[in-house]
Amino acid sequence: MDLYCVMGNPIEHSRSPWIHTRFSQLTGQDMRYEKRLIPLDGFADSLRAFRDEGGRGCNVTVPFKFESPALATKLTSRARLAQASNTLRFDGNDVLGDNTDGVGLVAEIQRNAGVALAGSDVLLAGAGGAASGALGPLIEAKPRRIVVANRTVDKAKSLVDRHASLASVHGVEVSVSPLAGIAGNFDVVLNATAASMSGSGVPFAASVLKPRCLAIDMMYGPAAAPFVQWAQENGALARDGLGMLVEQAAEAFLVWRGVRPPSQQVLAELRATLA
Ligand code: ATR
Repeated sequence: MDLYCVMGNPIEHSRSPWIHTRFSQLTGQDMRYEKRLIPLDGFADSLRAFRDEGGRGCNVTVPFKFESPALATKLTSRARLAQASNTLRFDGNDVLGDNTDGVGLVAEIQRNAGVALAGSDVLLAGAGGAASGALGPLIEAKPRRIVVANRTVDKAKSLVDRHASLASVHGVEVSVSPLAGIAGNFDVVLNATAASMSGSGVPFAASVLKPRCLAIDMMYGPAAAPFVQWAQENGALARDGLGMLVEQAAEAFLVWRGVRPPSQQVLAELRATLA
């Protein structure tokens, strides 16, 4: 039986083992998926130990996503652009580093929420791990423009700068803004800030929301609740990050097993389980 895991700290509440176990049951893949609590200074050692144990690949979550590209011997272009990796696959002596967060988010927006990105105006708030993985795949979906807004504007600028040539290839206008005074309003508003974790509420004004726009928080559970409530109260169609979580997992499953699992079915089951 092939062994996979998710490595993070904290990890107790991770839904990834549940999701991948359902994927493997539904696709008939002979695999086991565990969660591993990794010491904050022990990611490289834990990864080596997991490979020695016979692990075939792993997901990487907070706070190790930025460390993991340096431990890969090959990177996909989306992981290189993100400078962060949430999916590693062990290929003999090689370690492939990939990032499936952004494609997962795009699948959640287009397939699950039914909103087309082509030609739309997108606000991406945040410039940390979650936003970094999202920007490349968002650009590839060819919206009209993307504004990346962040509390620390320099971080947004460096994220946008390294995506400049991808944006130009796809003809997408990508710009930077502070969180205060974001100009204009948007069809799709994505909250990739961790502001709700600090209890400080939604860190930008409701004027960014077009009527009945799609507003997604990349977190799920109680952490997403303040944003979801705020978006609904201001006339948006709001979603938490559960769909993105399942879709990024589905893409990782595809990278490891070469099989696309029925992600919409598993998302519906997960929502029912959590309700
Ligand atoms: P993640 O992996 O979840 O993206 P992260 O890499 O720590 O976590 O990024 C956190 C993001 O939330 C950053 O964009 C951060 O802004 P800064 O770059 O200015 O630090 C943003 N953030 C965190 N707390 C915030 C707050 N109280 N108000 C606004 N933005 C906040």
